[in-house]
Amino acid sequence: MNQNKLAKAAKYLCQPGKGILAADESSGTIEKRFKTINLASTETNRRNWRKLLLTTPGISKFISGVIFYDETLRQKIKRDSKIIAGIKADTGAKPLAAFPGETVTEGLDGLHERLAEYGSLGAQFTKWRAVINLGKGLPTDEAIEANAHVLARFAALSQEVGLVPIVEPEILMEGSHTIQAHAAASKKTLLSVFLKLKQFRVYLPGMLLKTNMVASGLAAKRQAKPKEIARATLAVFKTAVPKTVPGIVFLSGGLSPEAATINLNAINRFGSQPWQLSFSYGRALQGEALAIWHGQNQNKAAAQAVFFKRVKSVALARQGRL
Ligand code: G3H
Repeated sequence: MNQNKLAKAAKYLCQPGKGILAADESSGTIEKRFKTINLASTETNRRNWRKLLLTTPGISKFISGVIFYDETLRQKIKRDSKIIAGIKADTGAKPLAAFPGETVTEGLDGLHERLAEYGSLGAQFTKWRAVINLGKGLPTDEAIEANAHVLARFAALSQEVGLVPIVEPEILMEGSHTIQAHAAASKKTLLSVFLKLKQFRVYLPGMLLKTNMVASGLAAKRQAKPKEIARATLAVFKTAVPKTVPGIVFLSGGLSPEAATINLNAINRFGSQPWQLSFSYGRALQGEALAIWHGQNQNKAAAQAVFFKRVKSVALARQGRL
């Protein structure tokens, strides 16, 4: 493992003023997204959409990396060389036997070989998403631990082949839980994940953490304000995330583009922290542009303009400059 190379790439990804575009929707997920605009999920449509995003003029000013899905990495879509490629390495969250309502993410079988191939196709980083559900009696310690274990195995394997792992435990925002309940589940999960990362000898300066902001459930009656979200999120990180991790990149997790932007700004307004606090949004960056594109080439320029505008304001929020 070349630690210097890993640390340099991790730092590159979360450099000030830039963040990551998550365009790693699996076939099932992109089909769902395209359904919202009545568009069939064909190989050509999927390619055209990702191409539209990546060829948006000037976008590399704000985007340091893009996460692809297996198919998209192989499509070799042209982009500015300043935007480095990553790959979703897991094969999805599957029901955890004997634990109703909980999942464990799969994909460890043959992972070493797959990662080596992704490296040869140009990927420089990887991502693995674990999903933690909140609910009555959830999450269980067992679900947290099972996911922390596979995240650590994934991270160690990625580093072994020279790829920077983005370790993503997502404590879902879906539900009607309070911000306090979300904070407690987030803290417990992150503590467990970092314990496993340590046990599996993951080199922390050569990885990034991708996770949720700590917030009220999306269906909760009382919605915490951005400042409260920022305070709760930073308090959890201070207890659970080692300072040697160079950056934490947020997922948007169903927040509107506006909320994802405003909350990120509030978090960065709290001043300098041990980690870079950046973004790796999927829906919050793509949603508005997708609605305008509608699968029509004639809407391409308008969709790119909206995408550019959102990326630019998220990049400003990433510096607390909105
Ligand atoms: O794994 C999650 C995605 O990469 C980010 O998606 O911002 O739509 O939650 P999201």
